[in-house]
Amino acid sequence: MAPQDAANARGQFSSRFGFITAATGSAVGLGNIWGFPTQTASHGGGAFVLVYLILAFLLAYPALMAELIIGRHTRHNMVAALPQLCNRPTLQVFGRATGLYGVLTACLILGFYAIVAGWLMAQIPAAIADISGQAVAKQWFSQSSLARDGLFCALFSALTAAIVARGVKDGIERWSTRLMPALIVLMLGLAATVLTLPGAMEGLRLYLIPDFTLITNPGLLGSAMGQAFFSLSLGVGTMLIYGSYVSNSDNLPLTGAYVALVDTGIAFLAGLLIIPAMFVAQQRGIRIYKADDTLIAGPDLILQTLPDLFNSLGVVGSIIGLVFFVLLTIAALTSSISMLEVPVSFALEQFKLSRRRATCWVAATIFTFSLLILFNFDALFGAVVKISTQYSQPLLGVLLCLFAGWALHRNQLLREISAGFPAAEQSLFWKIWPGYIRFVCPLLIIAMFVQNLSG
Ligand code: PFF
Repeated sequence: MAPQDAANARGQFSSRFGFITAATGSAVGLGNIWGFPTQTASHGGGAFVLVYLILAFLLAYPALMAELIIGRHTRHNMVAALPQLCNRPTLQVFGRATGLYGVLTACLILGFYAIVAGWLMAQIPAAIADISGQAVAKQWFSQSSLARDGLFCALFSALTAAIVARGVKDGIERWSTRLMPALIVLMLGLAATVLTLPGAMEGLRLYLIPDFTLITNPGLLGSAMGQAFFSLSLGVGTMLIYGSYVSNSDNLPLTGAYVALVDTGIAFLAGLLIIPAMFVAQQRGIRIYKADDTLIAGPDLILQTLPDLFNSLGVVGSIIGLVFFVLLTIAALTSSISMLEVPVSFALEQFKLSRRRATCWVAATIFTFSLLILFNFDALFGAVVKISTQYSQPLLGVLLCLFAGWALHRNQLLREISAGFPAAEQSLFWKIWPGYIRFVCPLLIIAMFVQNLSG
């Protein structure tokens, strides 16, 4: 079968726009709207923003290109793709093991991501109950409990599975192209509203003006790198499998650049919304600093400080809150479908199951894992987040760069890139990227990883 036919048999995005919305849908998620602003808040504002922007283009974009190119070249999921790049049996075994590690990491991430998405989704009926004056219902939906968290995690997981079961074009692409424009419009509207409220300008200053003395703070570099990898969905084979559904006529370096730009732009926009919102909250008497004088971050910021702010603004605030949590749920959904696609595509190709069957089994297994985390929350939640995002994603990122740079021959790389970009050989991308991905990018990631561990 010709590669193009093979791609059609396994599903393909119908257009370049379809791929860009699906890949940006994967990239833009809780990492942008929750992770980026809260990391910015806990690392002193503008200094973090600056380092993040530099790392996104220095490390994350080249690694994204490695995944897209491997995916389109092999037209397989990560477990089958990596051995295909190697001709020595030991390397093939290593490639397969790396692929399985990626699939496992995607499952771990989805395991905790669905819990967090469930918390956020529960705030939607909480806001509706508030607007309609149902105090008891509002209390139940807005307070964490095993019943509420389990129920909303199940709902979110079922929604994710329902989209993935419909396939690449009718599920992933169709829903990403519906949801992403809605997300951007909601976010612009919210940011514009918040910026008009008293106190917002103080937050804007903290966000936009870097304090360069903070750049050397321990942990800042490592956090910014982890955030960039998480935000661009790297390391776990998501971008690789999406790359495998891209048509040969697409210009990959350009398409990848769009994805990185939109992802970074939306993270930046989320900061414009959330950091000023914190200072609006402060003006209204809500505490935004912790005892050690750093800004409140993480779940407390999203699930306590911001809802307090919405409550203090009356009915208009409840409506803003409703829109905000719809926005977060949409962002989480377009990302979770891309995570679920990783093990589903593996199960499809490996065990020759139908897509529906593969999706049901995989989604049920991951949901069971989410329940396990919920029942042992203190012991498992933080550990799973740390192992999957802080350790595994950067390590897998290094391995994928090495596979793209060393296992793929230069001629194969050039042929793959030139397929949708005939002038590739004369381009700046071709002059820099192949060498960069072999040496510089892996070394930089490892150096930062080690610095982060020792910090
Ligand atoms: N990029 C997503 C976010 O920023 O929320 C998270 C993510 C999606 C991580 C897909 C990994 C992944 F495979």
